[in-house]
Amino acid sequence: MTILMEKPELVSQSDCQNHVDESKELVLDGGFPVPKSLSGEGFLAPEINSFGNSFRDYNAESERQKSVEEFYKQQHVNQTYDFVQKMREEYSKLNRMEMSIWECCELLNEVVDDSDPDLDEPQIQHLLQSAEAIRKDYPNEDWLHLTALIHDLGKVLLLPKFGGLPQWAVVGDTFPLGCAFDEANIHHKYFKENPDYNNPSYNTKNGIYWDGCGLENVTISWGHDDYMYLVAKENGTTLPSAGLFIIRYHSLYPLHKEEAYMQFVNDEDKENLKWLRIFNKYDLYSKSKVAVDVEKVKPYYLSLIEKYFPAKLKW
Ligand SMILES: [Fe+2]
Ligand SMILES: [Fe+2]
Repeated sequence: MTILMEKPELVSQSDCQNHVDESKELVLDGGFPVPKSLSGEGFLAPEINSFGNSFRDYNAESERQKSVEEFYKQQHVNQTYDFVQKMREEYSKLNRMEMSIWECCELLNEVVDDSDPDLDEPQIQHLLQSAEAIRKDYPNEDWLHLTALIHDLGKVLLLPKFGGLPQWAVVGDTFPLGCAFDEANIHHKYFKENPDYNNPSYNTKNGIYWDGCGLENVTISWGHDDYMYLVAKENGTTLPSAGLFIIRYHSLYPLHKEEAYMQFVNDEDKENLKWLRIFNKYDLYSKSKVAVDVEKVKPYYLSLIEKYFPAKLKW
C-alpha cells in the first residue's frame, strides 16, 4: 500500500539565498560551496535531481510558492513551546507499536513524501541511497551508515497508527522555541502569529536559555527528527553521540546552514556539527534514480542494526 500525502512543497530560506554561479560550484546544504572539480572525498554530487531541477530548488515551479508559504504559516503559528512539551511527553511513552528498525524501514516505504521536491522514489530508496553513498566514502564509520539508514524513520508520525500528525508537525525545517525567532528562519513573518512571539519570557535573544547551554537543553520544534531521537535513545541504542545528534538536528537548517542560534552550542555540539554537515550533503545529493538493490545490501544493514539496537524497539 502506498499512502500519498498532501503536498506542502517545503522550502528553506537557505535555498533562496544561494545565488552562485552554478557553472563553477555547487552549494551544499551544509552551508559550504564546493567547486565541482573538487567536490570532495570521492563523492560526486549530481547537478540535477530526478526531475531535472537543482536540488532543494523549490522555486522551480512558481505555483508551488503558495503552498510553501501556507505550510510554513501553519508550522510557525502552531509550533509553540507548550505544544512541543506536550508532544515530547506524549511520544516519550512509546506505547504505539513494537517493531524492529528494519520493519520500520519497510513501514515507511508505504509513504511517498510529496513534500520533497527531489524525490519521487519510495522512502527506503532514499534511506539506502544516502547510507550507501556515505558507506562508499566513509567505509570505516559503520555508525554513520546506520544513522543515514534511520534518519527519516520518524516520518511514520504521518501514518494513522502513529497519530496521523499533520505535515507541519512532522516535516519541514525546524527551529528553537523558548527564545526569539531568528530572522534566518524561512518565512519569518508568520511567527508574529505564534502565541510565543509576544511572550516576554521567550522573545529575547536567549529567552529561557543561556550562552553555551548546549542544544540538548534547547526545545526544538516537534517533528520526525526529535521523535526518532527519542525512539533511539529510549530503546538504549549504542550509536555514538554524533549519530544521535544527526538524527535529532538534521532539519535544523537555521543553525547548521545559516549559523543562527550558535550562542547555544557547547563544545560537544561543535564536534557533532562537523558530522552533521558531512551527513547533510549525502542526505541531499544521494537522491537519484539509481535504485539500490535492497535484497543485496539488506544483510549488511541488518548486521548494523543488530550491533547498535535491540531486536525489537518500542515506538
Ligand atoms: Fe529528514
Ligand atoms: Fe532525509
